[in-house]
Amino acid sequence: MSGERLYTLANRWFSTSVALTVIVFLLSAIIGFLIMPYADEDNRFASLWDAICSAAGFPVERSATNVVNPDFRTSKVTFDVAGLKSPEAVSIGRGATLAQQCAICHGPEGISRAGSPNLAGQYAAATYKQLHDFKSGARVNATMTPFAEKMSEQDMLDLAAYYAYLPKIPATSPVGKIPIPQIVASGAPMRGIAPCGSCHGGIERKEGSPWLNGQSAAYIEAQLNAFSTGSRRNDTSQQMRNVARGMTPEEIKAAAGYYGSFQNFQHARGMD
Ligand code: HEC
Ligand code: HEC
Repeated sequence: MSGERLYTLANRWFSTSVALTVIVFLLSAIIGFLIMPYADEDNRFASLWDAICSAAGFPVERSATNVVNPDFRTSKVTFDVAGLKSPEAVSIGRGATLAQQCAICHGPEGISRAGSPNLAGQYAAATYKQLHDFKSGARVNATMTPFAEKMSEQDMLDLAAYYAYLPKIPATSPVGKIPIPQIVASGAPMRGIAPCGSCHGGIERKEGSPWLNGQSAAYIEAQLNAFSTGSRRNDTSQQMRNVARGMTPEEIKAAAGYYGSFQNFQHARGMD
């Protein structure tokens, strides 16, 4: 049998196998480019062409209707704000004046005698973000919201600059008195929890994470519980909710007790 006679449509074996190959090709194209993309619940394609492009690996521009919006407010704060990194002295001064109305709860030197969080020495970005979130409704608190609602952008920068300028609770380490709990020192790698100090300062600092040492244990515990139940959800990209959800109640208590223990020095100074 010569090659010429083999590769001719007159040869039934040849024409049948070509036809079968074409059918298999068309079927897999239909399954791969149309049925599979449409079966994917997470991808709602605006058109047939979008589905084909997506299956072929070309990026598809999502139509605005595909965006899922949460039914609560989320934080939109970014830290690339001029005035946050290197505040002018005049900003700190203005902040000091504004802070007089805060002193009754947060203390005249930013160290609370009333169970409110301490603000003295807090990173400017953290204070600024929380005020913004109270104002926008991303963080909800009946006491703080009315104050923040009245603040201008400049007020928030000034207050953040002022509190960052005030000295923190003296950083004498309570190590030895309260040993650093496992969850704080090394996190829980199997549950995806990084050591607290890798974001909050001590080991490394992520912009927007507040300084925790010397905050009351009750406040730390309340915030961790609020993150874990989702009643506080202003943390960008769920950074803290992911941590708190993975913590056991014992670990929450241990971390709160540890950070709260820095307060002992406040009592020693007779400031409680
Ligand atoms: C009547 C008491 C009260 C007054 C006055 C008050 N605050 Fe607060 N503030 C609180 C309480 C309570 C919280 C904790 C809210 C919570 O539990 O979520 C808080 C939280 C905050 C936080 C978040 C702290 C953190 O670590 O997350 C900032 C920032 C803050 N206040 C700034 C201010 C500023 C600035 C003023 C003055 C303009 C002010 N507060 C006035 C009671 C008060
Ligand atoms: C991946 C970084 C990251 C790690 C790890 C992390 N945190 Fe946070 N945490 C944040 C950020 C960011 C915020 C600020 C959230 C916001 O914008 O309101 C925060 C906020 C908090 C607050 C609220 C403080 C306040 O003043 O309102 C507490 C309490 C807290 N973290 C405790 C912890 C503890 C305890 C651990 C360790 C078990 C931990 N965090 C680990 C990033 C982190």
